[in-house]
Amino acid sequence: MHPMLNTAVKAARRAGKVIMRYASQIDRLTVESKGRNDFVSQVDREAEMEIIEVIRRGYPDHGILAEESGRQGKGDYLWVIDPLDGTTNYLHGYPQYAVSIGLQYQGKPYQAVVFDPLRNELFTASRGAGAQLNDRRLRVSGAVRLESALLATGFPFRDMDHLDVFISTFRDILPRVSGVRRAGSAALDLAHVACGRLDGFWEFGLSPWDLAAGSLLIEEAGGRISDFCGGQDYLERGNIVVGTPKIYAELLRLIAPHVPSDWCV
Ligand code: IPD
Ligand code: CA
Ligand code: CA
Repeated sequence: MHPMLNTAVKAARRAGKVIMRYASQIDRLTVESKGRNDFVSQVDREAEMEIIEVIRRGYPDHGILAEESGRQGKGDYLWVIDPLDGTTNYLHGYPQYAVSIGLQYQGKPYQAVVFDPLRNELFTASRGAGAQLNDRRLRVSGAVRLESALLATGFPFRDMDHLDVFISTFRDILPRVSGVRRAGSAALDLAHVACGRLDGFWEFGLSPWDLAAGSLLIEEAGGRISDFCGGQDYLERGNIVVGTPKIYAELLRLIAPHVPSDWCV
């Protein structure tokens, strides 16, 4: 395993311990609101501190972009961290959340970990060296036909400005597929496409820490990924469509007509 991936795994497992330690006492957690429908708990913060401590010890001169504490340092390497992806689920005891740690080198995904502490599933990827779930090599599914595809999405929940865009897109996609899930953790949605449990995924309004790790899992598992304009600016734009090569192409074709033109400039 690449030494930087090893560090990411160690950090993700530490965060997982914090998350699981508090999971049985969620009603006693201190929760603050960062905005409408946007919560942060002491678990998010403690898990993030653990991750940063592990990374700092190994790589003190690397940059860090973390959801709860923001950006520190700069340079060729940037660790992009979501200590708890699926906070709303976690705070309700709904069993779908994960730790997501992506490392970029010169702006490109380089190493990735998505860790599901409930199922003890560790998804990892290294650029050019494939993706794994625990010790097993990952591949996206062989899905080629939309009508038998199982997809995931994320509903807008903080900002309702683009609800109409979502609904019109959803209206076009839903009748053409086998099913659509909204499980509430974008990082796990991506990991589940990478391992073939889902055949595709789309969402808009995401942040870089939701996507930094999962996007490399998809690429290294043989999937396709882009923003809604067919480009590779999904981390900056926060809009993402992924899938098996065929399902991705079909999804992008269905989404494109609904995308406001200023999203692609
Ligand atoms: C959220 C989850 C959710 C997605 C949101 C994200 P958080 O992350 O990934 O599935 O729909 O857009 O913000 O806030 O729980 O880390
Ligand atoms: Ca997140
Ligand atoms: Ca989070």
